Amino acid sequence: MRALLFLVVGIISEALAAATFTNPVKKTDGSDPYIVYSNGYYYLTTTTWTNIQITRATTMNGLKSATPKVVWSDSTASRCCNVWAPEIHWSFNAWHIYYSAGTSGTFDNQHLHVLEGSSTDIWNSTWSYKSRVTIPNRDVWSIDGTLMFYGSNTYLVYSSWDGSNQCLYIAQMTNAWTVGNATKISTPTYSWETIGANVNEGPAMLYYAGRTFLVYSASNCAGTGYELGRLELTGSSPLSASSWTKYSQPIFVSGNGNYEPGHNGFFNGPSGNIYMVFHASSTSPGYCDGSRYTMVQPVYWHTDNSPNLGSPRALSDAIPEPS
Ligand SMILES: *[C@@H]1O[C@H](CO)[C@@H](O)[C@H](O)[C@H]1NC(C)=O
Ligand SMILES: *[C@@H]1O[C@H](CO)[C@@H](O)[C@H](O)[C@H]1NC(C)=O
Repeated sequence: MRALLFLVVGIISEALAAATFTNPVKKTDGSDPYIVYSNGYYYLTTTTWTNIQITRATTMNGLKSATPKVVWSDSTASRCCNVWAPEIHWSFNAWHIYYSAGTSGTFDNQHLHVLEGSSTDIWNSTWSYKSRVTIPNRDVWSIDGTLMFYGSNTYLVYSSWDGSNQCLYIAQMTNAWTVGNATKISTPTYSWETIGANVNEGPAMLYYAGRTFLVYSASNCAGTGYELGRLELTGSSPLSASSWTKYSQPIFVSGNGNYEPGHNGFFNGPSGNIYMVFHASSTSPGYCDGSRYTMVQPVYWHTDNSPNLGSPRALSDAIPEPS
């Protein structure tokens, strides 16, 4: 009886102590968020337009009040401006930051760029410019680089214009800033991918139960159509377009007062559970600017092991800290 009582008291106090957080984890300049968990800390990056900032904390609640550290700004004319969508990846035995940037006064010169960290610890790193990523067979406008790890190979996945379509491409990497020829693996064709503009962008890889998913943002970031879709690598050759299968429906749309959710990333909590970070707007139509806020919530799974992203959670929801 005494033991049972202690057990019950123990369970109750654990439940009371279970830490929660509420969204947003970043209120302004929360666009295009990315989180990586390393050595006990969450590292958050978002689009700030002018530089690259990293915010770190041991909890989501901590991220809300942590002071961002500016780790990169650049006055070089070809890459000074429109600094978009930085992501921190461990690749080729170092930390690298992949980001998009271009010239002042226009979005027409955006390209992918790579920084390298000096340390095996993200926070301790100083960052040096390595290179622009030049894609051999189509050295044109490119944004939203992310990495895919498959077998023993590393691939760059990104978004680029092909005529009037903004499409997804993949290329194999030979080092952290050098790739082979790219293949187009997704073109916006469904009605939900072509609201306001024909767009597939913001690719994010998701690995689960032996399956490899690519979640991406569809339609114009301004307007009423921005939402997430998914591809799956269903063949064995990532560089072959026929190895990719697109799901016919969007998998994450406006909900609970959060509009135009998109440009997401996935990260692991301390025990390996998978979480999603994404941005949303409090009003619809949404805009492509710093008014978008960063949200985090758990990823669930359908019985066939495909991702069930649910709906954007209400900002009043107390969400358990990632585990
Ligand atoms: C970061 O740098 C500090 C100061 O040099 C050092 O004490 C600490 O061990 C480093 N942390 C990691 C994880 O490398
Ligand atoms: C890459 O693409 C270019 C242009 O289409 C072509 O000339 C070249 O042979 C390709 N390289 C490889 C390794 O396939």
